[in-house]
Amino acid sequence: MKNNRIIIFDTTLRDGEQCPGASMNLREKLEVARQLARLKVDVIEAGFPVISDGDFASVQAIAKEIKGPVIAGLARCVPKDIDAAGEAIKPAGKRGRIHVFLATSKIHREFKLGKARDEIIRLAVEGVKRAKSYVDNVEFSPEDGSRTEPDFLIQVCKAAIAAGATTINVPDTVGWAVPEQYAALIGRLYEEVREFQSGQAVISVHCHNDLGLAVANSLAAVRAGARQVECTVNGIGERAGNAALEEIVMALKTRGDFFSGLDCGVNTREIVKSSRLVSRMSGLLVQRSKAIVGENAFAHASGIHQDGILKKRETYEIMDPQEVGWGQTDLPLTKHSGRAAVIARLKHLGFKMTESDVNAIFARFKEVGDKKKFVYDDDLTALVEGHITEVQETWSLDYLSVTSGNQTVPTATVRLKKCGDSKTTAEVLQDAGIGDGPVDASLKAIDRLTRTRGKLIDYSLRAVSEGKDALGEVTVKVDFGNGALITGKGASTDVIEASARAYLNAVNRFLCSNPNPPDNEPHP
Ligand code: KIV
Ligand code: ZN
Repeated sequence: MKNNRIIIFDTTLRDGEQCPGASMNLREKLEVARQLARLKVDVIEAGFPVISDGDFASVQAIAKEIKGPVIAGLARCVPKDIDAAGEAIKPAGKRGRIHVFLATSKIHREFKLGKARDEIIRLAVEGVKRAKSYVDNVEFSPEDGSRTEPDFLIQVCKAAIAAGATTINVPDTVGWAVPEQYAALIGRLYEEVREFQSGQAVISVHCHNDLGLAVANSLAAVRAGARQVECTVNGIGERAGNAALEEIVMALKTRGDFFSGLDCGVNTREIVKSSRLVSRMSGLLVQRSKAIVGENAFAHASGIHQDGILKKRETYEIMDPQEVGWGQTDLPLTKHSGRAAVIARLKHLGFKMTESDVNAIFARFKEVGDKKKFVYDDDLTALVEGHITEVQETWSLDYLSVTSGNQTVPTATVRLKKCGDSKTTAEVLQDAGIGDGPVDASLKAIDRLTRTRGKLIDYSLRAVSEGKDALGEVTVKVDFGNGALITGKGASTDVIEASARAYLNAVNRFLCSNPNPPDNEPHP
C-alpha cells in the first residue's frame, strides 16, 4: 500500500540559486536554511559542493548548524564530486544525503556525454556505490528522466536501487512533460519496480516550469505514486524556475479531498515569511499576482467579492490567509522603543543575532525610527535582511545630497568612507556627479569614487510596509563586466538613499569577489 506522507525536498539553495543573479553568500544561505528548518521541510538541498569553495563551505556550515531536516549535497557521478559532497555533508551525520545525477535520455547520451546505455548504467552504479560509502541516504537522478526511453529508465532505476539508492528522482529537466504523460511514466515506474511498492526506495519528482506546468506535473505524479517532491520557495530556479513549494503544499492541503489525504509536514504559517526572506536574499521579486505569496493573492478588489467575504469568508476564499502566514502583525515599535524591545522582537521574528549584529541593526532602527512614526515588523525584517546581505564593506555611505527638479540638472554629492582593516582608519572621499535623474547622478558619483563601472541591468523599488513614510527597498542587478550579475539591496525612507545603498552593496559584493578589479577611468 502507498503511504500518505509526501516528503518535501527543498532545492532553493541549489537549483533555486542557479538562477542568474540569484547567488547568495554564506550568511544569506544560512539564514534561508534556518527559515527552511522553521518551515519544516524534510530535506534541504544545500548546494553543489564541488562547484566552488564557497558552495562547499555553505553546505558544510548548513550541515553543521541546521537541525531537523536532512541535508543533501549534489554531485555528478564522478568521484571528485561525490567525495566533495560526502565531506561537506559530514557534520549532518545520519541526516546527510548525497544526491548523484547522470543524464540518461538519448539526446544527452549521444550529444552531451557520448556514452552508450550500458556505460551509463555502469557509471550510475559506481556513483551510487561511492556515495553509499559516505552515507546510507543516497538519491539518484537520471537527468532528463522525463525524456528518457521508459524501458531504459526502468533499467537504470533498478540498477541504481540495487547499488543502494534509497530515493530515485525523475527530473523533468527541461520542463517538457505534461501532467497525464508524466503521471503515466511515474505510475509505470511504481508498478514495475517492486522496491517502490515495498517502500525500500522512494520515487521523487523534480519539475521545471518552462511550460508553466511544474506544479501540475508534480501533483499529477504524486497521484501516480511519487512520494517526494522537489521544489523551491517562490518557484525560483533555472530558466522559468522549479515547482513552487508553497503551491504544492497548499494544493495538497486545500484539496485534501482530491489528493486522498496525502499530507506533508510543512508548517504552512511560515510560508509567507519564507517567501519574503528568499525574495530578499536572492534579489528575485515575487510577482504581485503569484499564488499564495503574491501581494494580491488574497486581495479582493471587487465589491461583490468583498461583500461575499464579509458574509462568509469561504464564498471567495479557498484558503485562510493566516494559515499561510499573512497578517500576523504585532504592535509596531517606535523610536522610543529601547534595545531590549528590539532584541525581543528580533527573537520573536526568528532571527539569531550576535551582539554586533544587534548593535548594527539597533543603530539603523534608530535612524529609521527618527524618520517614521511606526517601525513595523516588515520594516525591522528589511533592516535585518539588509544587514545580512551586507558583505564586508570596502565602501560605506557617509553622506548623500541630491538636487533635482523639472528645471534643474540632477546633481548628487556623495561622500564615502573607504574602510581599511580597521574602521577607525577609514579614508573619506567626496565627489559629485550629474545624471539623467537623481538616482543616475548618485550612482555615477559612486562609480567615480570607487573607480568601478557598473552597468545597471535591473532596478526595482518596493514599499516594505504601509503608509507614505514606508521604508523603500531597492534591489539592483549590476554588470561589472566580470561575467556575473551582482545583486545589491538597500532600504531607507528616502528612495534615492535606498538606491545609493543598494548600488554600493553591489559594488562591495563585486569587490569582495574581485579584490583587484581593473582601475576604471571615472565617468566624465
Ligand atoms: O533539473 C535537473 O535535472 C536537476 C538535476 C540535477 C536533479 O536539477
Ligand atoms: Zn533542476
